[in-house]
Amino acid sequence: WPFHAPYVKAINDLKHVRNATILAHNYMTPEIYHCVADHIGDSLQLAKLAAKSDADIIVQGGVHFMAETSKLLNPNKVVLTPDMKAGCSLAESITGADVRALRKQYPGVPIVAYVNTSADVKAEVDICCTSSNAVKVVESLGADRVIMVPDRYLAQNVAAQTKVEIIAWSGACEVHERFTAEEIENYRADHPGVQVLAHPECPREVIEVSDFAGSTAAMIDFVRSRKPARVLLVTECSMADNVAAETPDVEFVRPCNFCPHMKRITLPKILDSLLYVREEVTVDPAVAERARRSVQRMIDLG
Ligand code: 13P
Ligand code: SF4
Repeated sequence: WPFHAPYVKAINDLKHVRNATILAHNYMTPEIYHCVADHIGDSLQLAKLAAKSDADIIVQGGVHFMAETSKLLNPNKVVLTPDMKAGCSLAESITGADVRALRKQYPGVPIVAYVNTSADVKAEVDICCTSSNAVKVVESLGADRVIMVPDRYLAQNVAAQTKVEIIAWSGACEVHERFTAEEIENYRADHPGVQVLAHPECPREVIEVSDFAGSTAAMIDFVRSRKPARVLLVTECSMADNVAAETPDVEFVRPCNFCPHMKRITLPKILDSLLYVREEVTVDPAVAERARRSVQRMIDLG
């Protein structure tokens, strides 16, 4: 903490000078999440907040696809990423050309893209979804079959909750695919009574042995509202650090699968972003217009 304090002060001073707002995903480290973020949330919440922002500059505490989504919804604002290399294994698993090939292979079948995709991919699909609205989005299309890209596990987990037939792409989150059912059962044996909350990017076998599955925000709500005595968050490790700081009576069992992309975002890099107004995230306007439609259609579903 002592090493963070000068950065926290400098960032909080400078964001007022620049009329900047800092959006932080739930996987940001606690010094970002609790000390400099103006808004925190899961992918859906951040997309909605970006749409409402009246700041001149948005600094995205999150990975590149999140900054791109903010830019899509704020074409006239400057959107900065503290690290251009903050990627995502899901977003990198599929391209716009892959989606065009799927359209040819499955004519007339609607395509849903998880927000963890590039603007190029969003531009080619019918609608976006996040982990918190995926079933609702799929069912809103009124089709018997729907293609979901790029996360095969999210697709399997949605398929288990709907009658719609789901055709899945083969991508996976490098953080969540590492969890196994056996590991969860071992945690249960070592920590009796633990409530297991898992992210829908986990393999199906992990969701099947969990007590609850939901987006990062849904997991946080569960802990805040139900205050379980012991909880295990089957997701990226900063989540437990962030929620534990505000729920001291809850014991957190802590597996630690770490997202190397999220962890590229640090206080010194956020300060540099604000100081030098870099690195700006841009999207080709023709692509942006089509990609924005897919994101907006999701937001309009409510
Ligand atoms: P959420 O939308 O649940 O925050 O998930 C985003 C993400 O990248 C999870 O790995
Ligand atoms: Fe992508 Fe997984 Fe990291 Fe989320 S946790 S940003 S899905 S690699």
